[in-house]
Amino acid sequence: MQFVSTTGQIDKLTTACLILPVFSKGAQTELTETFDQANDGQIAVVLKRGDASGKAGNTLLMHMPAGNKTERVLLVGLGESGKTSEADFNKATSASINALKKLPIKSICTALLSVDVVDKDDKWKVRQWVIKSHEALYQYTQTLTSSAPDAHQLENCDILACSQISADDINQAATTASSIASGIASAKKLADLPGNICTPSYLADTATKLGEQHASLNVTVLEEAEMEKLGMGSFLSVSRGSRQPAKLITMEHNGGPSSQKPIVIVGKGLTFDAGGISIKPSSGMDEMKYDMCGGASVFGVMQMCAELNLPINVVGIVPSSENLPDGDANKPGDIVTSMAGLTIEILNTDAEGRLILCDALTYAAKFKPEVVIDIATLTGACVVALGKHATGLLGNNDELANELLAAGKKAGDKAWQLPLWDEYKPQLKSNFADLANIGGPAGGTITAACFLSRFTEDYKWAHLDIAGTAWKSGADKGATGRPVHMLSQFILDRC
Ligand code: BES
Ligand code: MN
Ligand code: ZN
Repeated sequence: MQFVSTTGQIDKLTTACLILPVFSKGAQTELTETFDQANDGQIAVVLKRGDASGKAGNTLLMHMPAGNKTERVLLVGLGESGKTSEADFNKATSASINALKKLPIKSICTALLSVDVVDKDDKWKVRQWVIKSHEALYQYTQTLTSSAPDAHQLENCDILACSQISADDINQAATTASSIASGIASAKKLADLPGNICTPSYLADTATKLGEQHASLNVTVLEEAEMEKLGMGSFLSVSRGSRQPAKLITMEHNGGPSSQKPIVIVGKGLTFDAGGISIKPSSGMDEMKYDMCGGASVFGVMQMCAELNLPINVVGIVPSSENLPDGDANKPGDIVTSMAGLTIEILNTDAEGRLILCDALTYAAKFKPEVVIDIATLTGACVVALGKHATGLLGNNDELANELLAAGKKAGDKAWQLPLWDEYKPQLKSNFADLANIGGPAGGTITAACFLSRFTEDYKWAHLDIAGTAWKSGADKGATGRPVHMLSQFILDRC
């Protein structure tokens, strides 16, 4: 869907459907009142009868008399006047699009910028409207033979400039948001694909294609033989148990001056994690196709940077492999040598994410990074600690951590910081190698980050554990595209 700003008098708009806010309590917006006065007070009648409650996300479709330029009005609830929250606004957006996508209409017009949202400005409203609309229209279709079950006809959405923000600023915010939304959708599409289609080679091909589509993107894929030469013994030990060859994918967006140090993002691209010899229980194991969500988010962010031609250098690295049981797979007690030279005792083959990430993080240093951020579905313990709402954040630089926390808050794609104290580090002690790949049941998310921290000492680094936030289980099973929005905000704030 395309989003553009529009101006005009509220009661003289030509549109198939005008989206108008209503509140559950307090005075309605001036805009809603003006429209109603020009149209025989029908909205007041409907509100009085209680058909439209004004509760956040409640919708009611009204048809205007034949001949009216505004053919329909969708009343959408935003809660109590003056108290509309971020969540209320998001709910109202999703509910509006969900209500309208079922109708045979192509063009709509939203007047929701007229609503004050607590602590948020107009630019935020535009971005959120665009991103949440795209999200409501997202559909997984790749492996369904029936053509899209509820294909919609929505093509254009006018955003009525009915607040302080200028038409130009609306258009600019909408363009930015559309690219963030495409990045989120691309990440979801990749993540939702099954493990037999989305293999490391599939991800590598996807990266190559992305590079062909965007002049600013330089894509390289390292094969196992090249990784062997670099000494990536840890990463390759995981891949040895799989028939699919591992790939190390690098996507460089060169938008800034060549002297500018890049932001490097490294995403875990485990296209299926069965656990290896330390095999996982079978219940729910299908969801381990989502173990590449960190990698998928890197694809989404790189696409966003390229589409918007951001004036900044960003490097995306995705180490990709499967983790399966096999005669040649890692065995508990095996010791491997990482690219950094540190030896690792593999006490649990299911703690494979850190084994592929440590070599990718060593490789990242070659880009002389300003900062490095890794994104990984790394520990079940993170889901226990933070549930499904907050991404776990750890790192070796508080300034960087605070910047990410702030970006997450702004984007509504939040993280919560956990400590990375030295006290936890002895849990990784091994009698036979420089470190063990697990640290026991206590503080599993923290000891996983402690493991990674041994490989990130030479630069500012943050780690995002997205085990709880990258996808949803149950009836709504599907990828969320997180944390593409947080990372996009982080990068945009640095531009
Ligand atoms: N990919 C998993 C982590 C995971 C599990 C993410 C469940 C989301 C939901 C990771 O490779 C893993 O298996 N981690 C182990 C580590 C343990 C063996 C120290 C875990 O969390 O159980
Ligand atoms: Mn695992
Ligand atoms: Zn894993």
